[in-house]
Amino acid sequence: MFRTKTCGDLRRANVGETVTLCGWVDSARDHSGVFFVNLRDRYGKTQTVFNVAEDADLFERVKTLHNEDVVQITGEVLARPDGLVNPAMPTGEIEVRATKLVVFNRSAPVPFQPSAPEVPHEEMRLKYRYLDLRRPEMQRVLALRHRITKTLRDYFDENGFLEIETPILGKSTPEGARDYIVPSRITQGAFYALPQSPQLYKQLLMIAGYDRYVQVARCFRDEDLRADRQPEFTQLDLEMSFIDREDIIDIVSKLVARLMKDVKGEEITLPIPRISYDEAMERFGSDSPDLRFGMELKDITDIAKNVEFRVFRSVAESKDGRVRGINVKDAADKFSRKDIDGLITWTAEQFGAKGIVWFKVDDDGKLTGSSAKNFTLEELDAIGARLEVEPNDLLLFSCGDFTLTCRVLNGLRRRLAAQLKLYDPEEMNFCWVVNFPMFDWDEEENRWVAMHHPFTMPLDEDLPKLDCADDPDAIRSIRAQAYDLVLNGFEAGGGTIRIHDGDVQNKVFSLLGMTRELAKEQFGFLVDALQFGAPPHGGLALGLDRVVMLFAGIDNIRDCIAFPKTTKASDLMTGAPSEVAPRQLEELAIKTTAVKEEPEEKE
Ligand code: AMO
Repeated sequence: MFRTKTCGDLRRANVGETVTLCGWVDSARDHSGVFFVNLRDRYGKTQTVFNVAEDADLFERVKTLHNEDVVQITGEVLARPDGLVNPAMPTGEIEVRATKLVVFNRSAPVPFQPSAPEVPHEEMRLKYRYLDLRRPEMQRVLALRHRITKTLRDYFDENGFLEIETPILGKSTPEGARDYIVPSRITQGAFYALPQSPQLYKQLLMIAGYDRYVQVARCFRDEDLRADRQPEFTQLDLEMSFIDREDIIDIVSKLVARLMKDVKGEEITLPIPRISYDEAMERFGSDSPDLRFGMELKDITDIAKNVEFRVFRSVAESKDGRVRGINVKDAADKFSRKDIDGLITWTAEQFGAKGIVWFKVDDDGKLTGSSAKNFTLEELDAIGARLEVEPNDLLLFSCGDFTLTCRVLNGLRRRLAAQLKLYDPEEMNFCWVVNFPMFDWDEEENRWVAMHHPFTMPLDEDLPKLDCADDPDAIRSIRAQAYDLVLNGFEAGGGTIRIHDGDVQNKVFSLLGMTRELAKEQFGFLVDALQFGAPPHGGLALGLDRVVMLFAGIDNIRDCIAFPKTTKASDLMTGAPSEVAPRQLEELAIKTTAVKEEPEEKE
């Protein structure tokens, strides 16, 4: 046995025991004749003491130690004298008087101290990830990740699900991002696609009769990265047969309650609130609304149609034009003209806003500010009444098409709520967003595209509209049996009920402009399999990394993945992606063309 206790174990009750600890030197301090080594492992830290008067040889050896050396220390547990107890350390009541030291390995000077309170620069952390993972915060998050994954697995096991693995080397899946592809050596010129999700395989498993499937599944998507996205991420993926939407929502809601209880020790009341996609976009400008605070979007297009102010009126009179705003309560005195200009520039850069019209509410409840002179008193009163103003409110308006006003006001709403601390960062606020549109019009490609994927089932009452291919409004109004689980304004998971009826599937393919041949080429095996007794089925996938990020209370997905990629999808530690030997390319019959140094400029 290398050790009899960990560095987090020892308490006053252990006084008098002889123990052996192993770990990394967290700090080494010489106090003239007494040498203190704080030893660290993932369970905690323990202070060990070497005394020159007791063993001069040992003392000489311990003086050679440096931070991050790996050692074994044996000694007796002593109570620390009263004034020297350290209440900040769980082992702060004791220390170990060392009688033996074994040095397993001496560390080269480290680029940063894992135990230092300041967080090193992220590039450094990713390059020396093994040192970064020694930091207690990283250990806390990875332990939490383990706990969450374990709870998920236990829950599904108790509910009769089978965990079944699906291939990594496979065929393209229809999740909408770019695929990562892997060339085949044996079939030269052919490629596998890494799964964007196990979507097609889990549907095949339903057809095969495995009516409750679950998997902790690796997914790969080559897309623009953000703080909540990684090119390689993990889903808790599930699929069920002989169920409807309510069954999926029910089993996942109970899972959420279980996670809250096991991981956070909190009871939540079910059902989790629901909001339709249309309502979420109308009230919050987002299909993953953050419901921890108000500041809802208010529409004043009807008022704007009748005002002299051209900026409002021209948009309000245009097709699809909307004028909407938010009321930032009691904030007028917190934002100077310069601050507001900063917000305006930010919305222009981030979302392409053409400007923000703003007002401050004075002590009499009247709207003021540079734009106010463009309106009559009655108009200002009507706007104020719609936004339910009180003195010292700040009003911000966006005008444009519906999508633009959603993006601008959702962005402002989130940013200002964070800045003004309008929510409790500890709160865990869940909601279901349901009834997503089935189709979206792609302006560039001039055709309908599936908002989820082409196997998503429309709501029963909208099925007849599939026959109205010539009526864009009818097609636009078809709702899908799709549902997203939203946590604190992040999409934590999403799923749909799938089409199991060949006729419905054909109609959807044809609306998407997919010939049967093309569908066969892309998803042939699934189209075939659907003919051989497909049960009614549906499922959902939780983004495990995102769930961990939100449960851990952190705002960056990289911090809950042991070995993540940068926003440029590279691994700073291993250097991946990297070039391969010319021989490897020859075997694959692949020739590379000139390498692009910089991404192409956007037009
Ligand atoms: P979807 O594409 O909505 O659905 O993905 C499900 C969940 O996975 C997470 N997620 C990501 N997490 C980190 N990095 C990414 N790049 C990333 N992309 C997605 C999100 C998201 O809610 N097959 C369907 C599920 C189904 O229909 O059953 C699917 O993959 O939290």
